[in-house]
Amino acid sequence: MKLTPDQQAMLDGDRGWPLQIAMQMLTAVGAALDAPDMIPVTSTHLVIDGTALGEAGRDFLERLVAEGGRFAVPASINAIAVDRTKTDMTAEERDQIRMLEACEKMGALPSCSCNPFIQGILPSFGEHVAWSESATAPFVNSVLGARTNREGATAVASALTGLAPRCGMHLDKNRYGEILLKVETGISGVDRFSLLGALAGRLAGDRIPVLDGIATPPSIDEYVAFGAAFAIHGAAAMFHIAGITPEAPDIDTAFGGAAPAAEFVVDEAAIAAEHAATANGTAGPVDVVSIGCPHASLGQLRDAAALLADGQANGDVTFYIHTNRSTWDAAEAEGIIAKLTGAGVSVTADNCAVVSYDRVSKGTRLATNSAKMALFARSVSDAEILFGTTADCIAAGITGHWSGGQH
Ligand code: F3S
Repeated sequence: MKLTPDQQAMLDGDRGWPLQIAMQMLTAVGAALDAPDMIPVTSTHLVIDGTALGEAGRDFLERLVAEGGRFAVPASINAIAVDRTKTDMTAEERDQIRMLEACEKMGALPSCSCNPFIQGILPSFGEHVAWSESATAPFVNSVLGARTNREGATAVASALTGLAPRCGMHLDKNRYGEILLKVETGISGVDRFSLLGALAGRLAGDRIPVLDGIATPPSIDEYVAFGAAFAIHGAAAMFHIAGITPEAPDIDTAFGGAAPAAEFVVDEAAIAAEHAATANGTAGPVDVVSIGCPHASLGQLRDAAALLADGQANGDVTFYIHTNRSTWDAAEAEGIIAKLTGAGVSVTADNCAVVSYDRVSKGTRLATNSAKMALFARSVSDAEILFGTTADCIAAGITGHWSGGQH
């Protein structure tokens, strides 16, 4: 890779170990992906989940701090493995807090959310950024028109240097659609956008799909639900919706004038089949309700409170809604948290929904409106999944029985 004298000095260790290790990571990735040089990035989003990074991750982040590492560009933090306000933490949870504190010392914003978009963290059209958490990349690239690859630990290296290898989604030529999905059924609501995202991700694989036939622009909640399911079921970092997303004013532009490599019809039967593949449970008792994967927005918390009405969570159901701290605070100010918790709902902040898996095991009957949560719960805990609308999930939380979820 062609490096500037300043970048070469970082790589040579002239500016300390943190920048040297960061440049080593970035140049290794760049060389593997044939990047000609580095590109400046304006923000980063970091995954520091303690369950995945463990003691090695904690030690690495704390050494960066000790050796003078400081972030060169804004860095937000993904959902972590514990609620920061928890008082009786395990050793692993305390390690998670140490990782968060190390990042804060380097300048990170402790946003602790996989849905930073509802916190107002929104890169602008054309901005080059380096974001990890697979679910964020489709939103950044497709909805905002900013540019990121699906970063991993390299996002920390980009935060330290303000650089990323010039490759992948940073290049115009890699942002065109490759396959066409003709959507011939109405899609609305986070559950149906989540199913559509799962199907689109699997059909696309590592190719960028162009969806044609979505008549109404999705809401932010629907985009987030779609993007999370799309990312967990496929490897692409971008999608287009013809006539709606910013780099797809029409189909020809979305494909860069080329013909699609493949076409698929997404009709009601395809969505029903996706629902059947997502949910392996049937009507009957419910053990856990999980809403907020990705983190619920203020609007979703308001809706949940309204749907609960005067209902109470069933005593046999563990009822979770996951969100981030800033949204939790806004909801608390409106009295929504008091209403939800008073009804027996556990509203968590900061943590990934997967933390709730300590209550989920083989045979647990888990109701959710998220295809991403459904996939995790089935693959990690072999749970029985009941999938439906937010209203279906809340009704199940009140009655303790699943009766919804037909598509
Ligand atoms: Fe967020 Fe965890 Fe779901 S990071 S998207 S709550 S799996």
